[in-house]
Amino acid sequence: MRSLIGTSATRWLTLALLGALALGVADFAEAKKKKKKKHDVPMAEIAPGYMRAPYLQALGTDSVTVAWVASDTGEPMVDFGPTTEFGSTVSAQSNDAHRAATLRGLQPGTWYFYQVRAGDRVLATGEGLRFRTDEGSADRSFNFFVTGDIGSKKEQGQIPTGASILRADPRPEMGILCGDIIYKKGNSKNYDRRLMRPWQDLFSQMSIWPALGNHDWKSDPAKNWEKEWYLPNNEHYYSFDYGNAHFIALDTRDGDLYDRENQVRWLERDLAEHQDADWLFVYYHHPGITCTYKKYNDAVVEYFIPLFDRYRVDVAFAGHAHTYERTYPLYRGEVVSEQQDPQYVDPQGTIYIVSGAGAKPKKKKPTTLCGPTATFRDNTLLWTQVLIEGSTCTIRTWTSEGDELVDEVIIRKTDVSG
Ligand SMILES: [Fe+2]
Repeated sequence: MRSLIGTSATRWLTLALLGALALGVADFAEAKKKKKKKHDVPMAEIAPGYMRAPYLQALGTDSVTVAWVASDTGEPMVDFGPTTEFGSTVSAQSNDAHRAATLRGLQPGTWYFYQVRAGDRVLATGEGLRFRTDEGSADRSFNFFVTGDIGSKKEQGQIPTGASILRADPRPEMGILCGDIIYKKGNSKNYDRRLMRPWQDLFSQMSIWPALGNHDWKSDPAKNWEKEWYLPNNEHYYSFDYGNAHFIALDTRDGDLYDRENQVRWLERDLAEHQDADWLFVYYHHPGITCTYKKYNDAVVEYFIPLFDRYRVDVAFAGHAHTYERTYPLYRGEVVSEQQDPQYVDPQGTIYIVSGAGAKPKKKKPTTLCGPTATFRDNTLLWTQVLIEGSTCTIRTWTSEGDELVDEVIIRKTDVSG
């Protein structure tokens, strides 16, 4: 596959240049001028001395997990309800200072407010602590964010990226993280400074679905990753439904695949079982086919991509390269439907997106436009927003500083009712 694309690099370079002209420079320039509306972000009120603001996990149609970290010895509890009067209370489990409570029996597509307590002491409250449950497969209009490689030292990039996501209109309802969550070693002690604190206003309102990257594997995930997150299955590879879409998180570990045989078997079964989803999204850390400064990941190419082809995955997201890249649709290693770029109707392949510039944009080695790459951007802090409207999926990538539109691609399906 690599050699096939490598030998035709010149052809693709020509095609890409022609494609850039054909897509309508004027349209794109107009789209670039789009500015997202700014609106106030209600913040949570946090008690002094409190260790970690609450964050949402595993939000579904009728349940969500609220997690936080506190040293208080009072019974950990969550109050929740449709107004700030709450009305329901659930006790949390403790694991050292980590607390987590699963709120059940919620109504689909409904807003809830919540607060966390230690006995009678309110630790975090306010209108910023709220969420809306998934409406289920009837929810045909929703959006989520994608970014990766964010937990860097000195909070160098995650603050502008998190702020840009919160400014977006419509604001994402949840987010997926494509690995390398905490640099350099994925250890628990760095979660607060490098991730949870700079992103607390976001994590307290949006359910976060992370995948592991090579840096997250530098500390034992059983003692670090699994303590910080509350995810389905084995917390390394898992899937969930949201709206009319199905999402699959995979674990590429340090470039090989974690628990490879079982993970690949699980992936195939999960894809087969969710062929009725209108949209299929997968995400993981190491890109398979890529023209960024990172090499192809051979394990992803050999084990994952044939399944994405067979089961018609719509979009695969990765990080690892601290840049942005979007390929043309690919099927069995070949570019397909590229003449439609960037507005596709029933593309006959999977689009691969690298969005790994959430905190540490690459400054040294420029990305190279090559065979399957439709567009790329480097040297820029950015994040990606995916908006679903029934049979249409619009993917926009924004700069974190300035909210400039970097890329927009639209996929329409004629076999999904609009
Ligand atoms: Fe990485």
